[in-house]
Amino acid sequence: MVNIALLGLGTVGTGVVEILNERRNSLKLLTGKDIVIKKILVNNINKKRDVNLREGILTDDFNSIVKDEEIDILIEVTGDLENSYKYITEGINNKKNIVTANKSVVSKYFEEFSQLAAKNNVSFLYESSVAGGIPVIKPLREQIKINDINRIQGILNGTCNYILTRMIEEGKDYGEILKMAQELGYAEADPTDDVEGHDTLRKLRILATLGLQGKITEEDILLYGISNIDKLDIDYIKDMNSTVKLIGEVNLEADKFTAIVQPTIVRRDDYFASVNMAYNSVAFEGNNVGELKFYGAGAGKLPTANAVLTDVLDIIRESNNRENELGHRELINNNKNIIGDYYLRVSYMGEKGLEEIEKLGEEKICKDGSLIILIKETKLKDITNLLNKLKLEKKDYFLARILN
Ligand code: HSE
Repeated sequence: MVNIALLGLGTVGTGVVEILNERRNSLKLLTGKDIVIKKILVNNINKKRDVNLREGILTDDFNSIVKDEEIDILIEVTGDLENSYKYITEGINNKKNIVTANKSVVSKYFEEFSQLAAKNNVSFLYESSVAGGIPVIKPLREQIKINDINRIQGILNGTCNYILTRMIEEGKDYGEILKMAQELGYAEADPTDDVEGHDTLRKLRILATLGLQGKITEEDILLYGISNIDKLDIDYIKDMNSTVKLIGEVNLEADKFTAIVQPTIVRRDDYFASVNMAYNSVAFEGNNVGELKFYGAGAGKLPTANAVLTDVLDIIRESNNRENELGHRELINNNKNIIGDYYLRVSYMGEKGLEEIEKLGEEKICKDGSLIILIKETKLKDITNLLNKLKLEKKDYFLARILN
């Protein structure tokens, strides 16, 4: 028998219980072990739940879980940052294997958890923390052993992709679609984490640090979200026979890396244009294997719970590695040299500023009191320095890279 404790019973936790309830017998045949959820940690044990639970399974006492020697695996799906840090560290120190879907806590304490788990000879697995149901961490863990990874790109947030897809395809209003994404269980408790790009940034930090084998922190990644996108932008992007995606990307050349999350305009025939609604995709490139692309559901109850359970199965079948797989490469941040073609729309901001903005590019269109300018091969730093100098607030402009 394998005893598991589930920490949290929100969307993903409920999915884990549902899948395990349904597949308990087939998993027993497969692994030779009965996988039992012994305890579920919740804040309120009296709250009515929409899932079949054994009498007495709920507890609000973490200590009774972590001190229970019969429990082998903690599945941490609280979504909360500070408590989950305590749960994971105390869990590891008490020789529990850890599976987490919590990208905030993995991103913040990635190195610490990885070291601590290796020291205690337990597993620390986090497949479901990046790109929901898509198996991407495991293939990346495999490939880093025989490849140098020099590029990782991805649509990593289901909520943003759902919003952008429906704005482009159906001309729907931003606020209305965000509300639907929340109802469908895609969005974070605080959806600003999605739309301002923090969630994508955390997932990129995890992928980049593992993939490039050197520490790339949240602060190393430039961040532009989608909350300031306007109908004017959507209409213009459609006229370019393109669509727009929030893409996180890290590139490595020698020891210098660039890392950024930004709205990106992609042509209709580009691969990323075919990734729609709450789907995600991650592409990475290794020096031997070349480019690999992964596609699937980036959010949602069952896909994410499914990824959690693939980690659990790896632990039970002992097919995972208990070494610390993070590398020690000293990488240099080269974000100041990020260069590209950009789309910039600014709301009208007076004659003087307008002149300076106009100098950024040749092609400019004035529409509805706004200026749209297409900027060729320019350093991102020069554009953002000008926006800062002109004291433009975020709500007054939308900047997106144009992928050629
Ligand atoms: N809020 C996240 C998303 C959930 O929309 O992608 C999955 O990590």
